Amino acid sequence: MTNIFEVLREDHDRQRKLLKAVQDTSGDEAQRRSTFSELARELDAHAKAEERSLYAAMLAHKTSQPMASHSVHEHNEIDDLVEKLKDMEFSNPNWIRTFEDLAHKVHHHLDEEEHGVFQVAGKVLTEQDKTDLVAKFRDEKKVEV
Ligand SMILES: [Fe+2]
Ligand SMILES: [Fe+2]
Repeated sequence: MTNIFEVLREDHDRQRKLLKAVQDTSGDEAQRRSTFSELARELDAHAKAEERSLYAAMLAHKTSQPMASHSVHEHNEIDDLVEKLKDMEFSNPNWIRTFEDLAHKVHHHLDEEEHGVFQVAGKVLTEQDKTDLVAKFRDEKKVEV
């Protein structure tokens, strides 16, 4: 049975590919614009669905609460950077600098989820929870994309 951690890892790899794809679009503004908008949609839908599935379950357990709150805080920081980028001209040299800040933050967040959060969640959730959360995550993400 597929568990929530496998599904989230697949999504994370998609985010890593999209970050790289935006970095590879230097000089092609139209391509950068469309790849960035795909990344922004993906980041937002993933974070919202994650908060309504995995993080909602973790917040219900005292031992995993602090880590879940920390991750939600990082989602908000990522969201702020995405909004900042949306408000900037793509031709502005600061755009790519700000994008590098975003890429750094997202990579850090994904690594932390995969190497810290999932282990903590693994201890507080039952095997049933871990498989039930797959459908919850997928349903919530469908609503957002
Ligand atoms: Fe995630
Ligand atoms: Fe996340």
